[in-house]
Amino acid sequence: MEVEKALWKVYATVYDGILLRFLPYLTLLGRVKEALGVKDRRRVLDAGCGTGNLIQSMIKSSVSISIVGIDFDRAMLERARAKIGVNGRVTLRKGSLDHPLPFANEEFDGIACVNVLYALADPSHFMKECRRVLKAKGKMVLVTPPEQPKMGPVFWEHLQALGQKQKYPLFRFFTLCCLMLQLSPSLVPFLFINRIIQGQSSFTFFGEKELISLVTRCGFLIQKLEKAYGGQAWFLVCIKPANAEDGIAGKGA
Ligand SMILES: C[S@@+](CC[C@H](N)C(=O)[O-])C[C@H]1O[C@@H](n2cnc3c(N)ncnc32)[C@H](O)[C@@H]1O
Repeated sequence: MEVEKALWKVYATVYDGILLRFLPYLTLLGRVKEALGVKDRRRVLDAGCGTGNLIQSMIKSSVSISIVGIDFDRAMLERARAKIGVNGRVTLRKGSLDHPLPFANEEFDGIACVNVLYALADPSHFMKECRRVLKAKGKMVLVTPPEQPKMGPVFWEHLQALGQKQKYPLFRFFTLCCLMLQLSPSLVPFLFINRIIQGQSSFTFFGEKELISLVTRCGFLIQKLEKAYGGQAWFLVCIKPANAEDGIAGKGA
């Protein structure tokens, strides 16, 4: 467990340096926001908020939303605080998602959890806690890597997206060179940490069946399940049913 905790501290130092310039990640955050229906949600939880990128993007998209971000890593939260600043609509809390969530029943009408589930000691406990703190008909958007995730296809998606922005091959090549130079200080540690994450035996990389089983066992109805992020993440949208009996033990699959 100590290894994992150290991992997030180091990750925090290079995280934004790469990801804020990385088109598949920015596209992914946009999709999460869209699926959550941010404009219609009043109170949203970002579980494992990291450096606050999704939160920052959500406040820009809605004037009425209030957001709580929770993460157990101080370094990640410090970066989120620095980025978001003082904002009456955002609360950042330090806390572990492996413990009972420090929120009231049915406090939120939306929950996002992006690239965090795989790292939790007990994903089932976490999902049940999400169900508890979510209002009936509330929506949860979950993104988590599949079995044997790879960074190669995600970088490829990034290059393709960049290429589409430039009409002429010479400009494309030039853009690519600039990007590699821009990313290079953080790229090596970023890829190294990703390798460690992929090989971490305590992490859970879900197959499709396992993910469906987890979510439905915990009382959610699945609205959408597809691949995203260069095919290297599950993108799952689920709903807490209005009737407490619905969605229990696999009824939603
Ligand atoms: C890959 S980052 C994702 C951050 C953010 N959701 C994003 O998409 O940019 C994973 C985050 O999960 C947090 N995390 C991992 N295990 C956690 C736990 N048990 N409780 C709370 N946060 C956790 C880490 O500190 C890190 O900030």
